Amino acid sequence: MVLNDSNFVRQIEAWGGRYLADQPLSEYTSLGVGGPADLIVLKQLDALDPVVEGLRQRGIPWGLLGGGTNVLPVDEPFRKVFLQLAPGSGGLVFDGRRMHVPAAASLGRTVMECAKRNLGGMEGLVGVPGSVGGALRMNAGAYGTQIGPLVRSVTVFRGATGRREERAADAIGFTYRHSSFAPDDIMLAVTLELVERPFREILEQVKGYNEKRRRSQPVKEKSAGCIFKNPPGLSTGRLIDELGMKGERVGGAVISDRHANFIVNRHQATASDIFRLMEIIRERIRKAHGIELEEEVIVWRN
Ligand code: EPU
Repeated sequence: MVLNDSNFVRQIEAWGGRYLADQPLSEYTSLGVGGPADLIVLKQLDALDPVVEGLRQRGIPWGLLGGGTNVLPVDEPFRKVFLQLAPGSGGLVFDGRRMHVPAAASLGRTVMECAKRNLGGMEGLVGVPGSVGGALRMNAGAYGTQIGPLVRSVTVFRGATGRREERAADAIGFTYRHSSFAPDDIMLAVTLELVERPFREILEQVKGYNEKRRRSQPVKEKSAGCIFKNPPGLSTGRLIDELGMKGERVGGAVISDRHANFIVNRHQATASDIFRLMEIIRERIRKAHGIELEEEVIVWRN
């Protein structure tokens, strides 16, 4: 337990938040790994300001726990508090081709809400798990679509200053699986610009992508998506597959037989199992191709 201050906990509750001590992060991540950490779940975005200020005054480090779908936390207990913004219900506002969405909203559900209003352009992203904010931070992409180019503006809570600011798209850098947001920037809401497209057309394409994804990725297993980035012009999955590594395992961590750039948690894997398997893959790729693989998943250390 990091937050040993009952007065502060009472204040958090008065602001509509919930303090949960020693939560196993393995229950909050799609990969199903990660050691214990303290969480503060906030239902109201207004509570963010006093909570972060309270943590700063007490010298308690904090991080943001989003959808937990692209992260790999270590097994050791965390010495920081994780903040989680509850997604809330609804909250999507449409204005012509523009849509304003809370960052904590589910990406997949948002794509479908747009589709219902005959707005497309995000079809490729429908099967990407996680929140809109997480997708933005990673500039998530699939099937030729990346979220970055659709962004018009983002409301950000700057951890560094405790201030909110509206950032226009041209002040944000998006590259392959990367954005220019600082690690302690918390995205609160996003405005995206979509394209007009009939619902039926969007649905057809979404169905096609879903099918493709089900065939080529282990969607029903615990994973964090692709574990390494693709080197320019290459598919890491194909490179690992060509080395015959599908099915290789360390403890409960296994290289998926459906897509070799996915490590799946099949038998209560620990983060250490995953790290060891990643190192084995790195070493083999280094030897075979002289390529240094870069992590795509975000590793959380203390
Ligand atoms: N391939 C193999 N064996 C494998 C995996 C792939 O031979 O085990 C071959 C495929 O047959 C295909 C080629 O490699 O010919 C490319 O495969 P795929 O279409 O699956 O694309 P990818 O480059 O491996 C990228 C993204 C995925 C995204 C897909 C679809 C990265 C690291 N990966 O994978 O994103 O879903 O394209 O657009 O950029 C993620 O971000 O977590 C992720 C999974």
